[in-house]
Amino acid sequence: MNMYDIITKKKHGGELAADELSYIIDGYVAGEVPDYQVAALLMAICLRGMTIAETTALTKIMAASGDHVDLSAIAGHKIDKHSTGGVGDKTTFIVSPIVAACGCKAPKMSGRGLGHTGGTIDKLESIPGFRTNLSQDEFITVVKECGLSLIAQTGTLARADKLLYALRDVTATVDSIPLIASSIMSKKLASGADAVLLDVKVGRGAFMKTLEEARELAETMVAIGKTANFPTAALLTNMDAPLGNAVGNSLEVAEAVSVLRGAGPDDLRTVSLALAAGMLQLAGQGAFEECHARAENAIRSGAAFEALLRMTAAQGGDTAVLHDTANFPQARMQRTITADADGYLTRLDAEAVGRTAVLLGAGRMTKDSTINHAAGIILHKKYRDAITAGAPLATLYAESEEQIAAGAERFRAAFEIGAAAPAPMKLIYGAVD
Ligand code: URA
Repeated sequence: MNMYDIITKKKHGGELAADELSYIIDGYVAGEVPDYQVAALLMAICLRGMTIAETTALTKIMAASGDHVDLSAIAGHKIDKHSTGGVGDKTTFIVSPIVAACGCKAPKMSGRGLGHTGGTIDKLESIPGFRTNLSQDEFITVVKECGLSLIAQTGTLARADKLLYALRDVTATVDSIPLIASSIMSKKLASGADAVLLDVKVGRGAFMKTLEEARELAETMVAIGKTANFPTAALLTNMDAPLGNAVGNSLEVAEAVSVLRGAGPDDLRTVSLALAAGMLQLAGQGAFEECHARAENAIRSGAAFEALLRMTAAQGGDTAVLHDTANFPQARMQRTITADADGYLTRLDAEAVGRTAVLLGAGRMTKDSTINHAAGIILHKKYRDAITAGAPLATLYAESEEQIAAGAERFRAAFEIGAAAPAPMKLIYGAVD
C-alpha cells in the first residue's frame, strides 16, 4: 500500500477501504505520511466525496487516534449535544442544565470560538474563576454531583482531527460534508457519552448555507452514529440571523441566565426547549411532546437554573455573576447604533454580526489574540421588527474607541431596513433521526 496509489484511487472517484484509511490516518498521526500527500488526498475527497461506509470507517479511525473518555462510572443516561456553530448560540447553557434537572446526565466537551462563530469555552471563561480544564476524574465527579459539566476538549481527543483540521484550514478543504461529518463525529464517539443530539445550523452565519447541504450533513452524521451503534439525532435550526439578542461572551451567559429564569428572547427559548426535548427523547424519557413539557417545567420550577449554579460552583466559578448578571465585569466603551429610516428590519446577517463582535474584541483576530469577555453586541431590534428613524438598533461594547469605531462600521453592513415587512423565518426546519 502507498499514498500515491491511494490518492490516485480517490482522484478517480474510487471507494477507499478501511485498511487504506487506517494507513493514511495512523501514518499521518505517527508523522510517517507527509502533509502534502494528505493535503492532496483531502482535496480529492472534497471533489469526489465519500460513501457513508467510507466516512464511517474514517470517523472510527479518527476517534481511535487519541484518548477515549471513559464515563462508565457515571450512572444514568449520558447525553451529549453538539452545535455546528453559529452567532449568539448560547443554547448549551440552557439545554445542559435542563437535561440535568430532568434527571439525565449532560457531560460535554466543548471548543473555543472559530472565525465569526462563538465558542462555549470562551463564554464559560467569562464567569470569574470558572475552570474549563478539569481532569477526567474531576469531570466525572462534577457530572455525578451536578448532572452536568462543561469542559474544554483536550488536544488528545481524536488526535487525527486536530492535525487534519489545521491542514484543511489552510488548503481550502474545510467545506466537505464527509470531512466535516467525520471531524465532528470522531470527537463525539471519543467523548464517551451514550448518545448525541446535533444542532445543525443552516444559513448565512453557518457553515452550511442551504437547507439541502445541512440536511445532507445531518443525514451523514446520523448514519455514522447508527453504524457505530451510537444513537444520534439532529435538529436543523436557523442561523440566518443571530440567536437571541446577545452576541459576545458574558453578554451571552447573561442572556442564557434570563431564559433559565423564565424570561429572555422567544427564539432562544424556542430552540433551547426543542434541543432539550430532543436530548431527553434520546435518553428514553418519552415522546417529544412529553419531554418538551418536562423541559419547560425544569425552567418554571427553577431546577434548571439551580443545576447551572451547582455546576458553576463545583468548577470554581463565581455564582454572584449568575445571581445578578450586572456583576459581570463591564466593557469600558459602548455605542448605540440607531436607525436612519422608518420601515422594517428586512435583513440581519448573522455572519456580519459575528464579524462585528470579533472586531469589538469578543473573538480572536489571530490565533494568539486575547478575548475581552465583556465585549459584544446587544441587538435591540430583530429580523421583521418595525423600525422608526432614530430608534436604537444595537449597542456595541468594547475596550477601546478604535474597536467601537471598527465594529460600528462593520455593523452598518449587517442589516437592511426596507419598506415592507419581510416573510417570517422558520426557526426550526426539522429533525433527522
Ligand atoms: N466543526 C468541526 O468540529 N469540524 C469541522 O470540520 C467543522 C466544524
